[in-house]
Amino acid sequence: MLGKFVLLYFLLVFVTNFGLAQEQDQSVDVTRRVDCYPEPGATEAACVARGCIYENEANQPSAPVGTPWCYYPTTSGFTKKSENGQNIVLEATTKNPYGDNISPLNVKYRSNGATLLVTIGNDDRYVPPIDIPQAPSTSTETLKFESGIIGFSGIFSFKVSRTNGVSLWDTSIGGMQFADKFIQIATYLPSKNIYGFGDHVHKKIKHNLERYTVWPMFARDIGPDSGSALSTQNLYGVHPFYMCIESDGKAHGVFILNSNAQEVETGPGPHLTYRTIGGRLDLAFFPGPTPEQVIQQYLLHIGKPFLPAYWALGYQLCRWGYTGLDEMKKVVARNQAAGIPLDVPIADIDYMNHYLDFTEGDAWSGFPAYVDQLHAQGLHLILIFDPAIEVDYGSFSRALTANASFISWPSDSLVPHAIQDQYPMAKNTRVMLGNVWPDRNTAFPDFLDPTNKTNLWWAQEFQTLRKVLAFDGMWIDMNEPSNFDTAGYSTKSSAKSRAARDPSVLASSKLACPIDGSDSTLEIPPYQTWAVYLHQGEYLFSKTLCMLGKTTGGQQNFFDTKNLYGWSEARATYRALPKTTGKRGAVISRSTFASSGRYGGHWLGDNTARWEDLQTSVIGIMEFNMFGLPYVGSDICGFNGASNEELCLRWHQFGAFSSFSRDHNSEGQPDQDPAVWPSVAQAARIALTFRYYYIPYLYSLHYSASRYGATVIRPLFFEFPKDGEALEISEQFLWGSALMIAPALYQGQTTVHAYFPADTWYSLQPETYGQRMLSGFNDVSAPLSSLTPVFVRGGYILPRQFPGTTTTASRLSPFEVLIAFKANTASAGDLYYDGGDDLLPNDDIEQHPRLHWQFSFTYSSFGAAFGGNCEGCSTSVKSPTLDTIEILGYPTQPSFDGIKLNGKSVNLDLTKSFYNSTSQQLILSSKGMIDLSANVKKFTLTFVNSA
Ligand code: GLC
Repeated sequence: MLGKFVLLYFLLVFVTNFGLAQEQDQSVDVTRRVDCYPEPGATEAACVARGCIYENEANQPSAPVGTPWCYYPTTSGFTKKSENGQNIVLEATTKNPYGDNISPLNVKYRSNGATLLVTIGNDDRYVPPIDIPQAPSTSTETLKFESGIIGFSGIFSFKVSRTNGVSLWDTSIGGMQFADKFIQIATYLPSKNIYGFGDHVHKKIKHNLERYTVWPMFARDIGPDSGSALSTQNLYGVHPFYMCIESDGKAHGVFILNSNAQEVETGPGPHLTYRTIGGRLDLAFFPGPTPEQVIQQYLLHIGKPFLPAYWALGYQLCRWGYTGLDEMKKVVARNQAAGIPLDVPIADIDYMNHYLDFTEGDAWSGFPAYVDQLHAQGLHLILIFDPAIEVDYGSFSRALTANASFISWPSDSLVPHAIQDQYPMAKNTRVMLGNVWPDRNTAFPDFLDPTNKTNLWWAQEFQTLRKVLAFDGMWIDMNEPSNFDTAGYSTKSSAKSRAARDPSVLASSKLACPIDGSDSTLEIPPYQTWAVYLHQGEYLFSKTLCMLGKTTGGQQNFFDTKNLYGWSEARATYRALPKTTGKRGAVISRSTFASSGRYGGHWLGDNTARWEDLQTSVIGIMEFNMFGLPYVGSDICGFNGASNEELCLRWHQFGAFSSFSRDHNSEGQPDQDPAVWPSVAQAARIALTFRYYYIPYLYSLHYSASRYGATVIRPLFFEFPKDGEALEISEQFLWGSALMIAPALYQGQTTVHAYFPADTWYSLQPETYGQRMLSGFNDVSAPLSSLTPVFVRGGYILPRQFPGTTTTASRLSPFEVLIAFKANTASAGDLYYDGGDDLLPNDDIEQHPRLHWQFSFTYSSFGAAFGGNCEGCSTSVKSPTLDTIEILGYPTQPSFDGIKLNGKSVNLDLTKSFYNSTSQQLILSSKGMIDLSANVKKFTLTFVNSA
């Protein structure tokens, strides 16, 4: 008996002491804290009231920048109530500072091929309707989900790990919360090599996990601030996706499907904390193990990118502020006269009548005839369209007749009649009115309308305009959606285009959202996110519509769907395009969400004519490739502010290598088209001519992206993930696996300190053409008057076509291939070619009529063989012949007599064919040498080396 008491006593002492030890031990190292007071204004009392720990020893010099003083104990979160197969039920145990945690809370996991999916949240929560195709992924790696308990606390955590034991996620850092308007999950990360999350300006491609940094994600009409050392400002789109490179070079990716205002905080643990204020968490883990495979798995999950028309890869010339058609004609003509390759002139809002969509202004009366002229020259036209529709003209009236829906007030009592009743057509509606470019109030189409009537009306408007003005592609802007002058925010009133507007009318037309009482719960939720805290005095609705607006045909709140606005408009516009033109084209959207790439491309928004903006553009285009939007570019020469000769020159040298390559300028800024400066014209001509030469390669890369889910432009680490140096490179990039570009991005720069990962690289700059580059860092010459540093990687075959000044002309030239020789390695590459602008019915790229050649090249001391295999060959696709084969680094003098195609002798054109034993450049050329049409499914060209 006594023995039992003694045992009980010791047990009690142990438990009590352990409990105390636990308490004392709750302090968390400064490197791994989950912030319990992320909004401004933490005090010790407020922190403790939240059940959190306050320790301001964080102001020690050794504490990482941004260390939270108020943080969650690791024992905060939910307890596990039950686990049944892949379904876990949790119970709320600890406090959520922003509302009661939902209890019971479901956690489910499952696999889709190699992708592991984890859903946290009950079925009644909002899930973005991005209609994921759900194709299963494949990988050599397997991911495992394991649920666990944090210490002895009983608090639930989970791990996602590889079979080698590396945890990709481990939520035992604590801090999980799930209230109606505050959801949080935190995890340790396996390394500090984190890339992605958007849309932000990143000064380096790799995140800085030495410090704590909060990146808000909430679509906003605001230009990138590249001038600051660190700007965490949320920009136009939302991409809750990141990639991590583990210490052994394996890559994985994580995507969180959620469309509410949200943010991620990265920290030195390494760890991250993700917070969102609605919906639920639909997590997807992609095992890679290569970076390209991660993207492939991600794009299988969210949808693969659309295939732009061939012409859309040509150079595009744009500006805001053309006084009329005559000015546009003048600018286009002077660039054509300067020999600048040009495919697409673009008209900004200037062409409209008072900025009304689907109308033409008086100064543009000859526009239709001019478009015919452009088409006759093989050019194409893109026009801008804004989503906001003024509520007193034909487009709005037709929308009402078509039963299209618009973002609306939830009840009549909230409708501001002083504004609404000014408009006979809007008077008896609940349509929420805002202000954008048009003179008077505008309505915002509800592109999520489940009846599809809104999208049908939208398509009809394009079709009606197209009958008079034959545009080929659409540029959709202001679709965060942007609303000027929402009370609490005011902007753009200085823009010339709005100066004409009567200020008294403006004052009586501003959108005001409820900021107190029961109607304000969505406008001012308990945690507003850093999208709001970054701007003192603002709200979630600032510069956009009220969060209580009804979308999705009245079923949802704008609070939940706001980040999907640009995505849904891009989908509606992409679907309208074939009905409008009967052809493939391109849609470019400013606001994007995960999966937007299925419907369009993107430009990086209103940058500034500054060197810093040129530098961050390189990172921006790589990131959007990771987000599944490979058709992307920045405004060449810079949008805001006056550009200058050197900057505009360098920007053209770089911009010629962006997939979406467009010079764009703001209203009121001096001209910056290449023809303005002879030096810029020369550099642009050289850079764009090189681009046009290699567009067959670029188009083939886009084809791979659309068919398999690849990137087109990729960071160096994508190809060299085990190279520690490559993990850090922010200012160089690759086209596919094979072409590396190292642009000059600094004022006064004459050389680029470029990094060459260990491999075979050849220069393609004319001055050093064919020269082999040493691995490591090399200073390469970056002349203003020549081609930007560009290199080809050994082991690859690139298709190309002698360039004209339009892609229409280039497509008539014979094909060529560039083979970059690599010792002891076969070279490979492919050529995808099709009608260029023919439709892909049902987006079925597998069935699309094409010529898809896979090339290979093998070498031995006796000779070499270049072979082609047609993976898909349709007789309906006409193609030029392959006339020229160029090989860089060919080690031996070949015999020009012994060349055979499928066993038959080939007569070379000896005026064009040569071998230079010093430079090891070999060119074999013969008119009509290889037929690439569907008649031939295979060929082999062989040659022997001279003894
Ligand atoms: C927005 C766009 C910009 C466009 C302007 C006028 O600022 O981002 O590209 O030129 O509106 O339409």
